Amino acid sequence: MTIPRPGDPQVLKSCCATAYQSDAVAAILGDSYHPGGLTLTRHLARTLGLRPGMRVLDVASGPGTTALALATEFGCEVVGVDLGEQNVARAGHAAEKAALADLVTFHTGDAEQLPFEDGSFDAVVCECAFCTFPDKPTAARELARVLRPGGRVGITDITVAPGGLPPELTDLAGWVACLADARPLEQYADLLAAAGLRTALTERHDDALRRMVEQIDARLRVHRMTPTSKTGSLLTGADIDRALALTGQAAQAVSAGTAGYALLIAEKPKEAPTS
Ligand SMILES: C[S@@+](CC[C@H](N)C(=O)[O-])C[C@H]1O[C@@H](n2cnc3c(N)ncnc32)[C@H](O)[C@@H]1O
Repeated sequence: MTIPRPGDPQVLKSCCATAYQSDAVAAILGDSYHPGGLTLTRHLARTLGLRPGMRVLDVASGPGTTALALATEFGCEVVGVDLGEQNVARAGHAAEKAALADLVTFHTGDAEQLPFEDGSFDAVVCECAFCTFPDKPTAARELARVLRPGGRVGITDITVAPGGLPPELTDLAGWVACLADARPLEQYADLLAAAGLRTALTERHDDALRRMVEQIDARLRVHRMTPTSKTGSLLTGADIDRALALTGQAAQAVSAGTAGYALLIAEKPKEAPTS
């Protein structure tokens, strides 16, 4: 199969959203679609200072696991937004099943054009997704716009050293795997700064990415050896071979220190007092 080169932003967004709502991705990634899983999500929430009653937006909420955890474990009112309609529907059902529908809602929407009022959230989280937004300056401005003055954004994301990826990881598959347009941590901070958000803290979590790549690799091999009734119908041998080639290159990039994972907290300044 010839994989198209990244080009049209709408195609990139739609490919990413479609891939992340497929049953195959759910079978391989599990409940959380980012390195570090819920453990890193909880750390992000504590570092952000999330407290009961806060209104939180989860941008690119995927299967909704983070939003549900922020509601149950931190007592927040959470709104999730994602481009993938099926993911939004599934996440909504999960909220209903957990009797959390009054505290957690999910909406279809684009991070580059968030369907929310200015200043309507105390905090915004965005896990392993900012790297996939084709127009990052616009997405950063949207995160800043929906935050109230004094509110904070918490991002965890893939980082990549400039020019450090092999060409195989910069095509459409690399984009969907969150690598092709990932940036160095400093560039994320610069993008947020240009949108008026001041970075207060950064941390490296490169090991979380290494573990996730290893786990995906191991699960793919298990599925190839012993396809279950579920995964057997989802992944052909060719799909698994392609995915394993990608995880092999990703593992090399992580070992070489070219690709990693980082956490960043940034703050929207409080409005200047009027004199
Ligand atoms: C790697 S998954 C992360 C999902 C979730 N944050 C998590 O950690 O479990 C990336 C998600 O970004 C979503 N996405 C990609 N581009 C988007 C956009 N422009 N606006 C909203 N969501 C987007 C995809 O649909 C997918 O659910």
